[in-house]
Amino acid sequence: MQFQNRVCQKLYEEHAAVQALLQRVEQTIARHRNDVPDAKDSVMGKLMNDLASELPGEVDRHFTFEEEELFSYLAEAGNAGIGQHLTYEHGIIRPIGAALVKLIGEARAQGFDAARWAEFRNLGQQLSMSLGPHAHKEDMALLPMLEDMMDVDKEAALYEKYVLQHA
Ligand SMILES: [Fe+2]
Ligand SMILES: [Fe+2]
Repeated sequence: MQFQNRVCQKLYEEHAAVQALLQRVEQTIARHRNDVPDAKDSVMGKLMNDLASELPGEVDRHFTFEEEELFSYLAEAGNAGIGQHLTYEHGIIRPIGAALVKLIGEARAQGFDAARWAEFRNLGQQLSMSLGPHAHKEDMALLPMLEDMMDVDKEAALYEKYVLQHA
């Protein structure tokens, strides 16, 4: 998929990046279905680092931008429903992500035991099942709608705010 609107394209690329991260979570969970991984294993360690930085970092910034700039823009244009629905989903995803980041902090300090690994698998699956479909839904419904509606001035202002000022 390719969007002309640069804000939509940026969000689309961030969705693809988060889907790739979720895929790594699922692969790691599948690989250690029957054992408890070493938290210091390099693949496991890299995955935990990426989750612990992306979830409170870029993922949270992405959610906040959608809520503050995009859903409000749609609401002003008379379509509040989609933003309300997607904000509700953000509200489900955020605490799952926060719980996973907290658990990662414990695993880094104390390693995994059976209970901690079971919790990682549970939270990782919950994150994948909530955030994956959410991002997909936005690709299919939100981003095309925004691209159709948004004029060039609004696009330039939001691109400046979200991408250029952050670079
Ligand atoms: Fe979202
Ligand atoms: Fe999104």
